[in-house]
Amino acid sequence: MAGPSFDDRDGWIWFDGKLVPWREAKVHVVLHGLHYGSCVFEGERAYNGHVFKLRQHSQRLLESAKILGMETSLTVEEVDAACNETLKASGFTDAYLRPVMWRGSESMGVSPKGTKVHFAVAIWPWGAYFGDQRMKGIRLDMGQWRRPAPDTAPTRAKAAGLYMIATLNKNAAEEKGFDDAMMLDWRGQVAEATGANIFFVKDGAIHTPTPDCFLDGITRRTVMGIARARQIVVHERAIRPEELSGFTECFLTGTAAEVTAVREIGPVKYNPGGITQTLMTDYDALVRMSPDEVARRSPS
Ligand SMILES: Cc1ncc(COP(=O)(O)O)c(C=O)c1O
Repeated sequence: MAGPSFDDRDGWIWFDGKLVPWREAKVHVVLHGLHYGSCVFEGERAYNGHVFKLRQHSQRLLESAKILGMETSLTVEEVDAACNETLKASGFTDAYLRPVMWRGSESMGVSPKGTKVHFAVAIWPWGAYFGDQRMKGIRLDMGQWRRPAPDTAPTRAKAAGLYMIATLNKNAAEEKGFDDAMMLDWRGQVAEATGANIFFVKDGAIHTPTPDCFLDGITRRTVMGIARARQIVVHERAIRPEELSGFTECFLTGTAAEVTAVREIGPVKYNPGGITQTLMTDYDALVRMSPDEVARRSPS
């Protein structure tokens, strides 16, 4: 059964420069971000009171806004500070953060002329994205909707509009009893899951698609660094769906999903195993270290 609506909570939301009570952080239905998809966001996690890789997330948020032509005077330091201040006000030490920027209601029409760029940060507790299945492994459907070419959509931005494709695939997968879907790209190559990047294991090495038309996740880069520090070879390359049955392990990486094992993609089965477990354990340890220690061990 669904819990209480997300807009009906106690707490504080950062809204255009100040903290406002959660229930009062509202926008109007006539909103450029809603009608025309001019909205970008981030997904971050705090562990032990620190936002993991906050600076990288704030930089990506501003970069996503820039890609969509959304002009803001906000600096990366101000975005960092808003996230930290909201986290402090929330009282949570372990939580999920959702910074979001959108074009407002100041004008209506496809043209964004005259609209202002707004910025909010909401924070809520969010346990494991796939519940208790992180090591047991989740089941992925083959998504029907593909990731578009980089000259068709702003694929490097974490833009709300691109999640239309993810939501279509996720919804279809859940209706068939799967946990999530794996998407191919416009060329028919393996791309990612609906909210996480994808990795495979073969002969002790890791293989992952080159992120040339989907998000090069912060967790993806972190996990690749962890693997290399453990002398595990990482191949970033084009992966065809015909290759899926030749891999022995598969896992997802993402801020929400963290490292999650995959036990099935359509008809192909995997045995969540040693490399997935090692990377999951190392990642879980890294995210709980102090920001200085994280920066030293995992600079990218
Ligand atoms: C579609 C998609 N791909 C990949 C990722 C992983 O990105 P990150 O590791 O930066 O959270 C996410 C999550 O933000 C996502 O939504």
